[in-house]
Amino acid sequence: MADFVGAVDQGTTSTRFMVFDHGGNDVGRHQLEHQQILPRPGWVEHNPVEIWERTQTVIQTVLYEHRLTVTDLAALGITNQRETTVVWNRRTGRPYHNAIVWQDTRTDRIASALERSGRGDIIRRKAGLPPATYFSAGKIQWILDNVDGVREAAERGEAVFGNTDTWLLWNLTGGTDGGVHVTDPTNASRTMLMNLDTLDWDDELLSFFDIPRAMLPRIRPSSDPDSYGATTARGPFTGSVPLTADLGDQQAATVGQVCFAPGEAKNTYGTGNFMLLNTGTEIVRSQAGLLTTVCYQFSDQAPVYALEGSIAVTGSAVQWLRDQLKIINTAGQSEILARQVPDNGGVYFVPAFSGLFAPYWRSDARGAIVGLSRFNTDAHIARATLESICYQSRDVAEAMAKDSGVPLECLKVDGGVTDNDLCMQLQADILGVPVSRPVVAETTALGAAYAAGLAVGFWRSTDELRENWNESHRWQPTWPSEQRQAEYERWKQAVQRTLNWVDV
Ligand code: G3P
Repeated sequence: MADFVGAVDQGTTSTRFMVFDHGGNDVGRHQLEHQQILPRPGWVEHNPVEIWERTQTVIQTVLYEHRLTVTDLAALGITNQRETTVVWNRRTGRPYHNAIVWQDTRTDRIASALERSGRGDIIRRKAGLPPATYFSAGKIQWILDNVDGVREAAERGEAVFGNTDTWLLWNLTGGTDGGVHVTDPTNASRTMLMNLDTLDWDDELLSFFDIPRAMLPRIRPSSDPDSYGATTARGPFTGSVPLTADLGDQQAATVGQVCFAPGEAKNTYGTGNFMLLNTGTEIVRSQAGLLTTVCYQFSDQAPVYALEGSIAVTGSAVQWLRDQLKIINTAGQSEILARQVPDNGGVYFVPAFSGLFAPYWRSDARGAIVGLSRFNTDAHIARATLESICYQSRDVAEAMAKDSGVPLECLKVDGGVTDNDLCMQLQADILGVPVSRPVVAETTALGAAYAAGLAVGFWRSTDELRENWNESHRWQPTWPSEQRQAEYERWKQAVQRTLNWVDV
């Protein structure tokens, strides 16, 4: 058998290709950013053609730099930013519109109308999600209603929908020349259109958004030797590699963190933060503002579900300090600046740029910096930004403890922000539990590789994967509990100031 498994990780800000060996070590990687298109306040788009071009380049670069060919790769997995919506013509291969990104709030009226009509509870019950701008269905509806000719083409089965996993799978397997049109339950469970019990598109949910079934991909297990086809000679691999896994990026990170047992959880710090708790084969419906989602489905085994706390703006708040406020030049400088002060100086920053996601689900919220006095400097703002990442994670951890009845004992973390030592120390202080980071912090791509490798026997079992997980660092809480509680109360007051800010 070949020595390696590949994974494409199509994220919100960049696309990367990584190659892993049997020990889960990365032996090659390349990453390229794509443009963030911001046509109006609240709107966020990506160009799907640019994403496909970047995907081809990162793959070709890794293969070239490490002298790899298709025979070196036992399998390939895809993982992706979830919810982001692409609609394209399967005959020409051209998208009808830019991809509408998960952070985009243009569908806020669609979401609030669903809530007012009472359909929100049906969506919660069947799909495990509250009606919100975050998910794909409203974005598909917006394209069908606003782009000429798409609805007719969708009814003919010519205009098709996919998240970026489906878009890349279709292109990698031949595109207009027979590309497969598929997705997996982890991605489908983020649309508001899939029934969590049947793992199939639900006619009643489709009717709420007036979406023709003919435009939707087939839903196949996340790890499967037979569902996703293979790459073709026409694409960046110039040959055939079996495509055997597809998972949304947060579920892939849960697999990469080997959270295979009920009760195991991880928190990924990317553009946003996403905490997932494995609930096993049981569908747990949240009473505390979390999402119920599919964690993974491996071949013919029963699906495994998760509770998820999704936070829209965390790493992207640090980018905002860099790109909009221009008080730092690199994301890493946020730590240097924040360390210039011993505490937040009374400043709290709630970065509700896309409204507030879990556990609040308030699209009427907008960002606020509160508690300012003349004493404060850019260093306090930087510190408050890092703290906002940690406080939002605490909000979600509290909701998880309420839903599961099990308090968090240790938080497994991964993602770019975990390089920020101050932020991780603040996370341990604000949560009051240890925070643990693995040696391989690229758990998203690793999880997609694991799922792909399991499908072809490259790894024999999840137990074998557990042996690959090793801790690289652990942060212990240092704040006294009175301080932890008092500061958290201030944060909750700051959150209240952001609500009822825009009409939806
Ligand atoms: O639900 C959105 C999430 O999948 C995006 O993840 O890492 O691309 O910000 P990331």
